[in-house]
Amino acid sequence: MPSYHFPPNFLWGAATSSYQVEGNNERNDWALAAWQGKVPVCGRAVDFYNRFEEDFKTAQSLRHTAHRLSLEWSRIQPEAGRFDAEPVQQYKRMFLSLREKKIKTVVTLHHFTNPLWFYERGGWFNPESVDSFAAYVKAMTEEYAPLVDYWITINEPMVYVYNGYVKGVWPPFEKSLKKAVVVLTHLTQAHLEAYRIIHEARADTKVSFAKHVRVFNPCPSYNLGQNNLIAYLRNKIFNHRLLEYCRKKEALDFIALNYYTMDFVKWSLSRTAGIECTHSHRRLKKNSLGWYNYPEGLYALLMGMKRYRLPVFISENGTSETDDRAYRAYLLSHIQAVGKALDKGVDIIGYLWWSLIDNFEWDKGYHAHFGLFSVDEHLQRIPKPFAYLYRDVCARNGF
Ligand code: BGC
Repeated sequence: MPSYHFPPNFLWGAATSSYQVEGNNERNDWALAAWQGKVPVCGRAVDFYNRFEEDFKTAQSLRHTAHRLSLEWSRIQPEAGRFDAEPVQQYKRMFLSLREKKIKTVVTLHHFTNPLWFYERGGWFNPESVDSFAAYVKAMTEEYAPLVDYWITINEPMVYVYNGYVKGVWPPFEKSLKKAVVVLTHLTQAHLEAYRIIHEARADTKVSFAKHVRVFNPCPSYNLGQNNLIAYLRNKIFNHRLLEYCRKKEALDFIALNYYTMDFVKWSLSRTAGIECTHSHRRLKKNSLGWYNYPEGLYALLMGMKRYRLPVFISENGTSETDDRAYRAYLLSHIQAVGKALDKGVDIIGYLWWSLIDNFEWDKGYHAHFGLFSVDEHLQRIPKPFAYLYRDVCARNGF
C-alpha cells in the first residue's frame, strides 16, 4: 500500500449527532414517531449528553484534532419562542471542553430532528419554517460564535427530504414529490439565511451544509445506454445541484462532505429518475447493512469537487461491520482515496470518521455499529481495535 502524508494542520476526528448519542431527547418528531410505534425507540442512547467529558478525553487520547457534534434544537427551544438556559450552558461546556483539549469544534445546527412545536406547525413544509430556524440560528450564533470553528447548517438536506417526503420512512412519513420539492426549497432558503446570520455574528467563521454524496454506477445489464443516462442525471441532480446553487449564491465557505457508498442504478419505465438495482453485479464487498464498500467512489467524488474551488472537509465517512478486519480495510482504503485526491490537487482540510461511538441509527435502531467504540449495557465504552489503527493514522498525519 503506498504511503500518504497529509498537509500540516489536516484535521482528524470523528462525528456524532445529538439525537443519536445524547439520550432522553423526548420533545422532537423522532421521539413522537417512536412513541407511535413507527420507528425504533432511541431512549437513553449512549448518554453522551452527560458523559461527553469522558468521550472527549478518549477522542483526545486517540489523537483526534476535530470533533463534529450537533445541537438538539428541541432541547434548546422546547417551545416556540422559549429558549432553555440549561442545555445552552451544557453545550457551552462541551465546546469549552473541546477547546481545552485543542480539538476543533464542528457544529451542526440541524441533524434530521425537529422540535415538536415546529413539527406540529407543518415542519419544513410550512413557509414560516425558514424564519423559525433563522431565529434559532441567531440565538445560537450569539451564544457560541467565538467557540465554534466550523458550522454546518443542515445535515444532508436531500437525504432528509428523500426519507421523509419521498420514501416516507422517516417523520413525517410522506410520499409526495410535490411536498418534497417545497421542503427542499425551504431547507435551501434556511441554509442561505443561516449562512448570512452566522457571518453577521463572526465574519471570519466557516459555514457549509453537509452534503451526502453517493456514486451512481450504471447497472451493466441490458439498456446500458439508458442506465448510463440515469447514473449521469442522478450524479448531477443528487450530488451537485444544491452545491452549485449555494456556491452561486456565495453561501459556502467550504464543502462538508458525507460519503459512505455506491448504488447501481438503472432505467425504469415508471420512474423518471430510474431505480436502484438490487442485484449484486460485481464481487464488491458489502458491509453489515448491505452497502457496497467502494473507496474509488470517494476518490471520484472528491475529484468532482474541484470545480467549486473550495476546501473540502469530509464530515462523515464510515461503515458498520461485524469484524475488525473489515473496519480496518474500509478505513485504510478510504483514507488512501483521500490521500490520492490530495495528491491530485483537491484541497481537503479534514476527515471525520462516523462515528465516535456506536449509536442510534435512525430507522434501523441499534442494529448498526459505526462507532470506533461499542457500548455495553452499562454504557461502558469499549474500544474496537481499529480505533487504535485510526489513532496511529491521526498521530502520524498519514500512513
Ligand atoms: C447521517 C448519520 C447516519 C449515517 C449512517 C449519515 O447520512 O448523517 O446520521 O448515522 O449516515 O447511516
